Amino acid sequence: MNITGTLFPYRETAIVFSLIVLFGFQFGCSSTQTQQDDTPSLHEAYEDAFLIGTALNRAQILSATPEALRDTLRTDRRGYFMEQQIFPDPKGLKVGLKHFNVITPENVMKWEEIHPEPGVYDFEAADRLVEIAEANDKKIVAHTLVWHNQTPDWVFEDEEGNELSREALLERMRDHIHTIVGRYKGKIMGYDVVNEAFNTDGSFRESKWYNIIGEDFIAKAFEYAHEADPDAQLYYNDYHMENPEKRAGIHEHLEKMIADGVPIHGVGSQSHFSINNMPDYEQIGKSITEFSDLGIDVMITELDLNVLPASVYQFDRNNRQDIYKDGLPEEVQQKLTEVYSDLFEIYLDHSDILTRVTFWGVSDDGSWLNYLPFEQTNYPLLFDRNKDPKPAFDALIELANNQ
Ligand code: XIL
Repeated sequence: MNITGTLFPYRETAIVFSLIVLFGFQFGCSSTQTQQDDTPSLHEAYEDAFLIGTALNRAQILSATPEALRDTLRTDRRGYFMEQQIFPDPKGLKVGLKHFNVITPENVMKWEEIHPEPGVYDFEAADRLVEIAEANDKKIVAHTLVWHNQTPDWVFEDEEGNELSREALLERMRDHIHTIVGRYKGKIMGYDVVNEAFNTDGSFRESKWYNIIGEDFIAKAFEYAHEADPDAQLYYNDYHMENPEKRAGIHEHLEKMIADGVPIHGVGSQSHFSINNMPDYEQIGKSITEFSDLGIDVMITELDLNVLPASVYQFDRNNRQDIYKDGLPEEVQQKLTEVYSDLFEIYLDHSDILTRVTFWGVSDDGSWLNYLPFEQTNYPLLFDRNKDPKPAFDALIELANNQ
């Protein structure tokens, strides 16, 4: 699909419209709100249980000011496919700020976006995120410092394209971490320091980080982050924590790191689930309690619920059926509501040890599940494409109120 082609004719209208919307909006939105919104706030409903977070995308972060909006219109970089399609998204930002008290940048602090070339950093969106958080009394959990994905190839190579030595890669990692964590010292509550370092069977993922540095790349990343901001909370983040084998491998390694005095304060379980293929609920509970036994915080960091049946993903890429493009069938909506309720019952049962539940996005239109692994209309979040609360949202409010 040619996004640029379809978007450009409407650009001018979009700018004018957005500037009107943004005129009284700027950073803090509640004081200038004109329309009455009686929807209860999700994070307020869960105030006594845990923090409730969301991931904000570039379209939302840069919606906060007309200047930034103009800058976004000039941006045309790799990986911005979805964020351009939905941008600008001031309404998404507004809903995000109402219902969530912790924000995580979905992409803008990943290596390829914040540090795209050697020696070149692009802090604009991250700076803006910090301003939004400060103006609206939100905490930030930044994502992510060291990962195998969305990290340019040059990171692992010298100027001639040869693979770096362990020492040189450690030095590059330290420089990246110090530059970012140092810049936001005292402004960012926590970091997903290392993301997805393990395989499903609990062994180390053979990433370039692991292959070049060895297994202590994880500990080193935490040490560097701690040097740069001794007060920041430092987390290890991964998916499939419900799988006992994977969990055991991670648990063992974190236990070793803690025994060695490595500064780690929490572990994040991504929780990208599918309503048609949920993990065993008992294992979800176990993953919370077992990690908590290490004496560190446990959090749900990227919650969303894919509604598409597995069969959709088995189609040939060129012959797919976008089965819910005209809307979500009522029974699927109900199933989504039930699964969200089931999960939050588990989370609430563990609210003494679970510190945060973060959703991977605000509303269905912005979700990555619409474009990965390929374009497909999905409905994984609590707010619909108009940013209105879905039945799952109401169910979660009711659950919290019945506590
Ligand atoms: C995803 C983003 O949502 C997409 O916009 C991007 O194109 C790919 O990455 N696990 C993670 C997140 O830790 O960083 C991923 O985010 C989703 C899976």
